[in-house]
Amino acid sequence: MYGGGQIFEAPDYKELLKNEDPEQLAEFEARIDRGEKIEPHDWMPALYRKQLIRMIEQHAHSEIIGALPEGTWITRAPGFKRKLALMAKVQDEVGHAQLLYAAAETLGKSREQMLDDLITGKSKYSNIFNYPAFTWADSTVISWLVDAGAIVNQLANSKGSYGPYCRALERICAEESFHLKYGHHAVIHLATGSPIQRKMVQEALHRWWPPLMHFFGPPDKASVHSEILMRWKVKMASNDECRQQFLDMYVPKIWELGLTLPDPNLKKNQETGQWEYTEPDWEEFKRVINGDGPLNKERLAVRSTAESRGRWVREALLRPKAEYVTPLA
Ligand code: 3HC
Repeated sequence: MYGGGQIFEAPDYKELLKNEDPEQLAEFEARIDRGEKIEPHDWMPALYRKQLIRMIEQHAHSEIIGALPEGTWITRAPGFKRKLALMAKVQDEVGHAQLLYAAAETLGKSREQMLDDLITGKSKYSNIFNYPAFTWADSTVISWLVDAGAIVNQLANSKGSYGPYCRALERICAEESFHLKYGHHAVIHLATGSPIQRKMVQEALHRWWPPLMHFFGPPDKASVHSEILMRWKVKMASNDECRQQFLDMYVPKIWELGLTLPDPNLKKNQETGQWEYTEPDWEEFKRVINGDGPLNKERLAVRSTAESRGRWVREALLRPKAEYVTPLA
């Protein structure tokens, strides 16, 4: 059970929406039901704006923090081709963050504020990037399976209601599919390589499986935000639906490589068509997403250093002081 039996109760939305004009809210929800896109200057309930900022900002943070575990392997990649591909992937992830911060800014939260809230721990990023990438195989498993998980959830969300977010996701998903293919190719190379390579990728897979099962969020019955996010088509599939789709697509691929997964209860129920698995450790999940994971402090320290070292560039570009700028003759 999520949180040792503690099930989050979704907030009382009637209470949260009671200050909205009922006619405007009804028209907004009719637009959502018709499948229309909501654009930045359209009327929207304050809760829609708040939820979108939270989710898009968290997604953007996940992209720049997500670049860190793999980024440390660029200088140690086994060969120039792998180095080039990994460099391109990491650059893509940072570019995804820029797209997403721009989408979140359309809702009224500045990039500076979002980055401050990341560094102070006020806003979250994906649990999975707080784990160490011990070997080259870890970076290949991330490229394959974390990006695969990201595509499952982002492809669904790209059909959602908020225009700027959906357009950013369409672009992101196209690039994620390249990451997925690169990662799969790299894992196959190791899984069909020498005994040492095979052992390395098998051990990496066992390390990353538990955080991958957390990646899609808590079970639907414990999800705080799913109800309203799905009602307003911000989230187009539930956490468990994304997890099941991921298992359906990738467990057979992992098994056909002769690799094992660290869950003896993992199997597909042929009657229900659902994957059964050992309940993930949601206490660990809660600790990690609230700052107490293996590398949370290190990840934020890297971002904080980048922020302070880059401040002079932003100030020179964004707020040139008169004495710096010599007027053109
Ligand atoms: N990591 C960190 N926090 C998570 C989480 C995760 N994997 N899953 C859920 N949470 C948090 C939620 O933020 C919420 O906490 P909050 O109230 O303090 O914000 C709490 O756990 C309860 O979870 P809910 O299910 O109620 O939250 P959501 O409805 O927001 O669902 C989500 C979580 C599925 C991650 C959803 O927010 C989402 O689809 N986000 C957009 C896509 C995204 O962020 N994808 C993952 C990272 S991108 C990536 O991997 C980059 C790739 O290029 C490598």
